[in-house]
Amino acid sequence: MAQATPSLDGDAQERLLREGRIKARGLMPDCSNYTYLAHVRGAEGAETLGVYKPAQGETPLDDFPDGTLGKREVAAYLVSAALDWQVVPLTVYRTQGPLGPGSLQQFIVADISEHYFTLMPERAADFRTMAAFDVIVNNADRKSGHCLLDGDGHIWGVDNGLTFHPLPKLRTVIWEFAGEEVAATLRRDAQRLADELVAGEGCAATLRRDAQRLADELVAGEGWVKSLLQLISGAEVRALAQRARRLADEGRYPEPSSRWAYPWPLI
Ligand SMILES: Nc1ncnc2c1ncn2[C@@H]1O[C@H](COP(=O)(O)OP(=O)(O)O)[C@@H](O)[C@H]1O
Ligand SMILES: [Mg+2]
Repeated sequence: MAQATPSLDGDAQERLLREGRIKARGLMPDCSNYTYLAHVRGAEGAETLGVYKPAQGETPLDDFPDGTLGKREVAAYLVSAALDWQVVPLTVYRTQGPLGPGSLQQFIVADISEHYFTLMPERAADFRTMAAFDVIVNNADRKSGHCLLDGDGHIWGVDNGLTFHPLPKLRTVIWEFAGEEVAATLRRDAQRLADELVAGEGCAATLRRDAQRLADELVAGEGWVKSLLQLISGAEVRALAQRARRLADEGRYPEPSSRWAYPWPLI
């Protein structure tokens, strides 16, 4: 099967995921939705592998609106990129695909014998970042097997669809750092994120009342927040900004509040 074209830079890779022709190859193992390994082919023969999650293949859940999990996957990528934390692999939303609209994420060629419980405690520094990320996005499903080690030794977090609920829902295997102080650099990033969100969301809310052209011009500075508002609700963006600000201000990793704070299965 095709591997990623090695010479592509980040922009070309993003273009390939955004515009390439998607061919669904088969279901991923252990998926709880219809999640496909996809072959993506762009112009001039560039190709890569992706993970395609069509909205119509989502299993309905009680606590998240139907058909929104793929959008949450992309929103999680945008937040990871805005923080510059590289937790989530490149993910885009495709309005058209062979099985309808859905998310398309860069496939990570990972060492499948590794996951959170095998990578700890050696990689604690990376998991401190991932744990802070999960607090900010309110991740309700961080399992050990959602932590992938790639060939360069980088650890990625995948399966980020159960995120951004406005109510507290943190459910994760990463509780080793509970009560610990969050590093100053991570807190600064969280603060900056909160500021950008408040500026972008506030600006968008004011300008929704005005002409679209004006809105487009004025919100351009906070372009990524505008993209975020196409994926999750304004209330969810505000709750996201509050969680980021709280983490920056209080500066400690939270404690598990009940047995619901642990996912099942753990791996
Ligand atoms: N970007 C990715 N690269 C490589 N493997 C992935 C990626 N995303 C998911 N997987 C693998 O596919 C499995 C199923 O994907 P997951 O995101 O859990 O789907 P679902 O939303 O159906 O639960 C994961 O456990 C993981 O092993
Ligand atoms: Mg899953």
